Amino acid sequence: MRPLSTLVSSVLALALGALAARPSPTTLAARDELPKYAFAHFMVGVVADYVQADWELDMRLAMDMGLDAFALNIGKDSYNKLQLAYAYTAAETTGFKVFLSFDFAYWNNDDLNTIASYLRTFAARTGQLKIGDKSFVSTFFGDGFPWRDAEAAAGVPIYAAPVWGPDALNNNPNVDAGMQWNAWPSANNQPIDANYTTDGDLWWIQNLNGKPYMAPVSPWFFTHYSPTSFNKNWLFLSDYLWGQRWDQILQLKPQFLEIITWNDFGESHYIGPLHPDKPSVYAGGDDGAVQWVTGMPHDGFRDVAAAYISAFKASAPTPNISKDELVYYYRPNPKDAPCSDPLQKPDGADLVADAVFAIALLTAPGTVVITSGANAPVRIDVPAGATTVSAPMGVGKQVFALERGGAAVFSGTGLLEVSNACTVNNFNVFVGTAF
Ligand SMILES: *[C@@H]1O[C@H](CO)[C@@H](O)[C@H](O)[C@H]1NC(C)=O
Ligand SMILES: *[C@@H]1O[C@H](CO)[C@@H](O)[C@H](O)[C@H]1NC(C)=O
Repeated sequence: MRPLSTLVSSVLALALGALAARPSPTTLAARDELPKYAFAHFMVGVVADYVQADWELDMRLAMDMGLDAFALNIGKDSYNKLQLAYAYTAAETTGFKVFLSFDFAYWNNDDLNTIASYLRTFAARTGQLKIGDKSFVSTFFGDGFPWRDAEAAAGVPIYAAPVWGPDALNNNPNVDAGMQWNAWPSANNQPIDANYTTDGDLWWIQNLNGKPYMAPVSPWFFTHYSPTSFNKNWLFLSDYLWGQRWDQILQLKPQFLEIITWNDFGESHYIGPLHPDKPSVYAGGDDGAVQWVTGMPHDGFRDVAAAYISAFKASAPTPNISKDELVYYYRPNPKDAPCSDPLQKPDGADLVADAVFAIALLTAPGTVVITSGANAPVRIDVPAGATTVSAPMGVGKQVFALERGGAAVFSGTGLLEVSNACTVNNFNVFVGTAF
């Protein structure tokens, strides 16, 4: 079953209000004494077809980019326990870590004993992410859930870092840390014509009163389900999101960050590999993510994240670039392309630029040259470090090159050509790399 969480993504849960203000039993070290951790949100609901080796492959890719753990989002799927057993075993064989993230689109306060039994089964395993002796646990919403009661029922010390509204987090002994979900420019879950800012982060941090904050980081958001399936068809402006959000993370220096997501293909914010051989992953068939995800890898996004995660962990102000690379991304069609799709273009389609983008990761200053379709080459001088550049979109081939001191360094051509002929109003992005 496809997790319903996607239906309410980025909707801020209504805060239930702070619970009684007794002192926290937590005796954790101060924020600065803890190392920094980087996670990615992993939808167990879409991996019904996974076997042990699939988990190990994903974990090796995650370790390569500097992630510490997957937040394993679970609803109430029949295959939860099977897949969680694979995940914990894979973590143990690869040296990665995992933790449970209960999706409160499914769970509620009446499930305390079942949640405690999941914690008893998994939270003491070697593959579990721990903070000191406490097993990390998170959520998708579930404001006000009594985590200290769940901890007592499970008999396992836990470190609760749920996604709650700021009022619910405020002065609440049930939480050890807190996260917000809204990682995209939006207002009341509607697209807005603005870049993402840290306003939400600062609001959450203030309400956490010194408890650690877990910051969301996401590369994109496009979803295109018809009224007869999930009935959500929108795009949040993400043209500059990946680069700008990572710069914000290095300024904010949160204790934890969580990339949203590793594999939520339905909302196009995945950074994990495609799995064309696994039907469950693109659930929904002809009305599902397979329509806007097929042939649209996002793997290159991980290279940007890797540079920033290394700097985040070192509390460095700028990313750590050890190799020149261009990570480019572009939509498959101009926004006004006359696609033969019965489902209209997504809300927010008018906000995006008809442009192609590249995040230049440079060891030294250079010139990025973008040749988009029949347009004349656009040359952009870029300093060392990570810089997002763009050029107007032209139909046809997309070529991204680096020059330095007047000489060509490298050039790459996207495997996908931009086209005006289309059957789907697809506002997902194709991501490629040149180096
Ligand atoms: C977002 O940031 C980019 C890069 O600075 C800028 O070109 C663009 O105009 C901004 N978009 C909005 C809606 O402010
Ligand atoms: C940058 O990367 C190098 C090699 O990976 C590493 O040794 C160094 O500690 C990193 N520096 C920062 C500030 O992250």
